[in-house]
Amino acid sequence: MRELIRINQPFLGKEEIDSAVEVLRSGVLTDKSGMGPRVLEFERSFAKYVGAKHAIAVVNGTAALHAALLAAEVGPGDEVIVPSFTFVGAVNAVVLSGATPVFADIDKDTFCLRTDSIEEVVTRKTKAIIPTDLFGLPSDLKAATDLARSKGMMVIEDAAQAHGAQYDGKRIGCVSDMTVFSFYAAKNLTTGEGGMITTDDDEHAQALRMIRSHGEQRPYWTVRLGHNYHMTELAAAIGQAQLKKLPGFLERRRKNAELATQKLEMTGKLILPKEPEGRRHAWYVYTVRLRGVNAAKRNKIVDKLWNKNIEAAVYYSTPVHSTPFYRESNLARRGRLPETEKASRQVFSLPVHPRLGEEEMDYVAETLRKTIA
Ligand SMILES: Cc1ncc(COP(=O)(O)O)c(C=O)c1O
Repeated sequence: MRELIRINQPFLGKEEIDSAVEVLRSGVLTDKSGMGPRVLEFERSFAKYVGAKHAIAVVNGTAALHAALLAAEVGPGDEVIVPSFTFVGAVNAVVLSGATPVFADIDKDTFCLRTDSIEEVVTRKTKAIIPTDLFGLPSDLKAATDLARSKGMMVIEDAAQAHGAQYDGKRIGCVSDMTVFSFYAAKNLTTGEGGMITTDDDEHAQALRMIRSHGEQRPYWTVRLGHNYHMTELAAAIGQAQLKKLPGFLERRRKNAELATQKLEMTGKLILPKEPEGRRHAWYVYTVRLRGVNAAKRNKIVDKLWNKNIEAAVYYSTPVHSTPFYRESNLARRGRLPETEKASRQVFSLPVHPRLGEEEMDYVAETLRKTIA
């Protein structure tokens, strides 16, 4: 029997193990300001990789989003525009900051925020936009940034799934006011749990360093609200080893995505992922849409893939605005979300992670082709 092909899986080797052991031998597991030697080294390497002036490491991607909102001075009375077709982390972070999340709709082809829908929900209270680079594809950042600039708003990009993606020839991480990454176990680069914020803005960087450490300017000198969002030395050491491998991982993901496209193009029943002009995908997952189906039919196909040991995943079958908490509370506001609703019923994702080779990709695509035939 074939082993289960997971939707994503950490790709760890000797380098990560050696780095982790070195940290354990050193006895330095963390630092009271979250700025131990390994964290500082990982931050420097990550900033250089994405081409940003600053990188601030934190404990996870949700903390990174929360810290970025606090650094942007987002708080009670403010509104922040977010997609509903995304992971709930960004929305929860807005609520934790005291502001109101406002849901906007997505583009039917990219699943990322749509500019006309953002415009529809902007008010005088809107302080920031959080576009998600969903499934690894950069959002329409120019449109979001132009709109933000014209209205005095900030763009905090949620690139939790998009390490190594590019926009107009630039790496994601140096395009928006602040960019947020996650290093959760399933991500393109992992530290188990972990997160990073990158920015070119000195003031935001300084604020972020204080926010991750109880708002302290120096030990026992709190000058603003903060939290304990320190990344551990162990996580940073693993991240540093992973970062060196990221270009190779991304190549494998791209190759696997290309293999999937070659095999699935002819089916006629699937809408396959594309890279719009100027955007380079990081291929976190390979997300397809089944033309004209309802959720029951989509779920049946996903179940059949599971029965063949392929972990196809339905991301966001319940968009955030329809989850019990957000449906029943009045903590969020929303625009019209027809494409969000439709995508939540029709799309599912296939694995393209770097542990998979040509044989596994053939099996995934061939099995799907037969299942929908
Ligand atoms: C789009 C998106 N945003 C935010 C997060 C939150 O990151 P974390 O799980 O590291 O808190 C995730 C990942 O889990 C994500 O996929």
